[in-house]
Amino acid sequence: MSPLSALGVFSGLFLPMCLGEYNTHSCIPRKSVLYQDNLKLFREEGIWNYSTMLVREDLGLLLLGAREAVYALDINDISIKKSGVYWRVTEEKQRECTYKGKHAEIECRNYIRTLHKVDDSTMYVCGTNAFSPTCDYMTYSEGQLRLEEAQEEGKGKCPFDPFQKYSSIMVGNDLYSATSINFLGSEPVVLRSSSSALRTEFKSSWLNEPNFVYMDLVPESNNNPEGDDDKVYLFFSENAMEYDFYNKLTVSRVARVCKGDMGGQRTLQRKWTSFLKARLDCSLPEPSLPYIVQDVFLLKNDDWRKSVFYAVFTPQSSSSDMSAVCAYSVSAIGDVFDKGKFKTPVTVETSHVKWVMYSGEVPTPRPGACINNAARTLGMERSLDLPDKTLQFIRDRPLMDDAVHPLTGRPLLVKRGDLFTRLVVDSVLALDGETYAVMFIGTENGYVQKAVNYAGEMFIIEEIQLYQTPEAIRTLRLSSTGQLYAGSEYGAVQMPLSECGRYESCLDCVLARDPYCGWDLSTGLCSAVASSPFASVPTNMIQSLKDGDISQCPKSETMKPENYTLVPGNNIKLPCQPDSNLAQVQWLFSGQLLLSDTKYYIYNGGILILNASAANTGQYTCESVEQVNSRPYTRTMAVYQLLPHTNLDEESETMTESPHSHSTPLPDLLKVTEKPKALDPLPPPESQCEDGRVVGLQVVVALLSLMLVGLVAWSLYKGCFRSRFSENSSAGQVKRPSDDYMQIQNNITSEFKLLGPTPSLSANKNQNAIIAFKGNGEHHFSPGSNISTVDGLGYIDDESEI
Ligand SMILES: *[C@@H]1O[C@H](CO)[C@@H](O)[C@H](O)[C@H]1NC(C)=O
Ligand SMILES: *[C@@H]1O[C@H](CO)[C@@H](O)[C@H](O)[C@H]1NC(C)=O
Ligand SMILES: *[C@@H]1O[C@H](CO)[C@@H](O)[C@H](O)[C@H]1NC(C)=O
Repeated sequence: MSPLSALGVFSGLFLPMCLGEYNTHSCIPRKSVLYQDNLKLFREEGIWNYSTMLVREDLGLLLLGAREAVYALDINDISIKKSGVYWRVTEEKQRECTYKGKHAEIECRNYIRTLHKVDDSTMYVCGTNAFSPTCDYMTYSEGQLRLEEAQEEGKGKCPFDPFQKYSSIMVGNDLYSATSINFLGSEPVVLRSSSSALRTEFKSSWLNEPNFVYMDLVPESNNNPEGDDDKVYLFFSENAMEYDFYNKLTVSRVARVCKGDMGGQRTLQRKWTSFLKARLDCSLPEPSLPYIVQDVFLLKNDDWRKSVFYAVFTPQSSSSDMSAVCAYSVSAIGDVFDKGKFKTPVTVETSHVKWVMYSGEVPTPRPGACINNAARTLGMERSLDLPDKTLQFIRDRPLMDDAVHPLTGRPLLVKRGDLFTRLVVDSVLALDGETYAVMFIGTENGYVQKAVNYAGEMFIIEEIQLYQTPEAIRTLRLSSTGQLYAGSEYGAVQMPLSECGRYESCLDCVLARDPYCGWDLSTGLCSAVASSPFASVPTNMIQSLKDGDISQCPKSETMKPENYTLVPGNNIKLPCQPDSNLAQVQWLFSGQLLLSDTKYYIYNGGILILNASAANTGQYTCESVEQVNSRPYTRTMAVYQLLPHTNLDEESETMTESPHSHSTPLPDLLKVTEKPKALDPLPPPESQCEDGRVVGLQVVVALLSLMLVGLVAWSLYKGCFRSRFSENSSAGQVKRPSDDYMQIQNNITSEFKLLGPTPSLSANKNQNAIIAFKGNGEHHFSPGSNISTVDGLGYIDDESEI
């Protein structure tokens, strides 16, 4: 075994340790689907910031709010605009806004921020309106969208500043909103606009420079033996008051108010009597400052107790590029608010206030509780009846001592790379009768990550590029018709939740572990599970989500080799690309495993046979090895037969000799774990694993790879190739070879045309134009200009470029 291949095995041994971690290789999406032209896109020239959406399935519409425009789009194809209205700022408003020091073309415009359903044909819409928030009613009838022009004050319902975060929700006819109520953005409120309007106290213990993220209603009065009320939950981040920290420290919070709250009689008049908040915990395995909540989605269940909030978190400091998703059950949040201890402020050393656990007596009824049966038996029917003691307590202590911890004790997903921005979650009934929560997570650079957590195992089924240029995804919405809508500054895009047809083989379909898809044995296609009629439970469908078990897949036919003629002296490139980012490629020559050495160069896009000789004729098989739950699955991706060149008969006699081409066969374990990727001449693509130790290992691997590159370069320089120039160089210049350099193969390559391929390339699926793979060796090896490819078969013109 050459020192080079020994190194290859060595570095190969390290990788399974990364893969063996609890989060396994799940940090890498199994497939990367690059931008496709056939995605449905809506944008209008001159209009930007498509960031507000309302799905109206009853009207068959997606309502899309942008800067100074609202559109009614066909819910099935959002590139079809049914109607639209413009709501521009008046010149006067814009002038006032610029006088106050705001940017005319950016800030002093009308950004649509609120779009809610009021009734069958009416919506409520608010915009920032040049730092003068305004609301209006909007109707859709006879295919026409119309603003009522009955403009209302939007203060507290919609932010002044288009860059400020906000949230709102319509419950019945009441608008609940969380935003700033003044021009400076310094007075945050959680407001209910209704006949009995309520708001939060202007106290930093209630809201301390918050960033509001999300609001939703949980109908907790349903089927509730305690006679409890419905609640509106609010997610935000704010400056922490409970920690001693040298700097401002931001924490994530969940807060809630009761729907039936009417405020207090004397204390907390027209203020919430039920505003409680708690820290939201989403801790990563490694120590770090608390992560900050960016978006939330409520996955509703018929039993509200089983409803779950999914939340996206990103780091507090910009030094990290890790994002996480944590999930919180409604009942766990309820436990903290209903049974947990409170925090209370204590003054230490004259002026410094510390928040500590309150261990004194808690008044009855419990502060912050909704009016429930217990309160009613005490004769309190409304919050107005609550005693001052209870109200004073809650006015001064809205923060709970306990944090709310995620469902499984840790994040459902952790990923390094472009930060997460938004998420939605769909609940999918799979063939095994179980329901899976599939997360669709938008990123800063315009991708959607489709991910599942299978019993603790993080798994990203695929990542889909929605925008041609990197665009932060600002909004995500789901429709029950299986569509996902994304909004960015540039435009709105629609994509189906699943495209099972992307998986072409049974293996690929099952290993995708996509709850929406199964392999249909009768049609031989990967198809949507839901579309198969459930009356005849599809027994002829294969799906194995937790295990990725392919044993039921039909045996695939052995692949016919593609025949090529080998011209001695050439460098030959045989392409092969795995159809999964999680797969590793291995090459076999006449049944024996090949490793990168001075003869072979294996990279993610194929193999290079350097200075081919007659000894290298024979069969080359490219296999992809993909691990699911540490079980390797091997699949043949391509087979090539290199035939001897008939003009060079005398060389074919030396075929049985093998100067330096064959590597010793490896034990089975190593065959499986061998990872050619590690042999790329450049360090591997950005490390995706989140475990510090794993990153360390990858650095070791990268260093080993670099050493390897050095060795390859050295050996190329010393012995193998001394050709320093190319006759085929585009400049057409022919330099005189110096004494040191011999020009060997290039004459041959230019004299002999490569023969082949023989006309059947059928089985080769490597040219899938739609699906590209991250970490594709082409980027690292830079062969583009050096290797000319003749019908898939290539050779190097100028080795000095390697
Ligand atoms: C609106 O879009 C423009 C163009 O991309 C961008 O410069 C601006 O920051 C966006 N405004 C907001 C409030 O997002
Ligand atoms: C390749 O050549 C072999 C004989 O060496 C032949 O049996 C086979 O059919 C050829 N394959 C193709 C695809 O032409
Ligand atoms: C190419 O291989 C042939 C025979 O295998 C050998 O004689 C020749 O020196 C090699 N050329 C280079 C540049 O290594």
